Amino acid sequence: MVILFQSKTDDPQQWRRAFAGALPEAELRIGAEAVQDPAEVDYAVAWKPPKGLLKQYPNLKAILSLGAGVDHLASDPDLPTHVPVVRLVDPGLTWGMTEYVVWAVLGHHRRTREYRQQQAQHRWARLEVPLGPSRRVGVMGLGELGADAARALKAMRFDVAGWSNRRKQIDGVESFAGQAEFGRFLARSEILVNLLPLTQATTGILNRQTLGELPKGACLVNAARGGHLVEADLLELLGTGQLAEATLDVFREEPLPAGHPFWDHPRITVTPHEAAITPAETAAATIAENIRKMERGEAPSPMVDFSQGY
Ligand code: GLV
Repeated sequence: MVILFQSKTDDPQQWRRAFAGALPEAELRIGAEAVQDPAEVDYAVAWKPPKGLLKQYPNLKAILSLGAGVDHLASDPDLPTHVPVVRLVDPGLTWGMTEYVVWAVLGHHRRTREYRQQQAQHRWARLEVPLGPSRRVGVMGLGELGADAARALKAMRFDVAGWSNRRKQIDGVESFAGQAEFGRFLARSEILVNLLPLTQATTGILNRQTLGELPKGACLVNAARGGHLVEADLLELLGTGQLAEATLDVFREEPLPAGHPFWDHPRITVTPHEAAITPAETAAATIAENIRKMERGEAPSPMVDFSQGY
């Protein structure tokens, strides 16, 4: 069995070692350059493959995403969709994302930025922080990542709600569903966390109008995709005080360009798309399990539903 491993950002040697343990029967080809005969490739494991690349393998049995999001695949107009395209739901990835969300939400809740400023001024002054149960946190997207983050925030005793296409059952988390309930969800969310998939329907969903419906002085955490956010609208709302602060891991253009106003903005925390890096040590096993299923004639999971875009 031949697997094409296509990613410009993951360390190939780490993945080679992880696959040698998880799927010893597979021969790994690191990058399209390593493939001698396109007909030999059975599976493609990919992060941001060049557009048109994957259609070149006539015997491909499936495409497995190396990331939780699949917008990097769905944006290829030539993506072969007669084979299963598989999302990555992996424990290690979920742990990373939940840590990031909890870190960012706690940072806003406990006024980290202001305390750093006070420290720089050698200033000893307590700031008001509401009790956890009075702090309303809203999570957009209640899939694997959003649900896990919402549970962790709930465990921190925050007042947590989620918003998703379909209503979800998560203990102690209020679930808002669909367009009709979006406004009520926004109106209660003092710290808004975005973990939605990027689709046509969600592109630009964080904009002047929606962020304007948050309570005044709200904070934004975007760990999903840069395409969700209208960047100029965020700057405007930080300027008016409608928003107090933002923690951003993802950007329209990555790496964030050198002259971008987010770099020096006193109320924006920038991290370099690192919230949840796919860890080879857990994800190779998750991907291997799906490949074994397909080799037995079973369906992999979860498969991308292209009518939904994720
Ligand atoms: C990273 O952004 C991912 O989709 O896993």
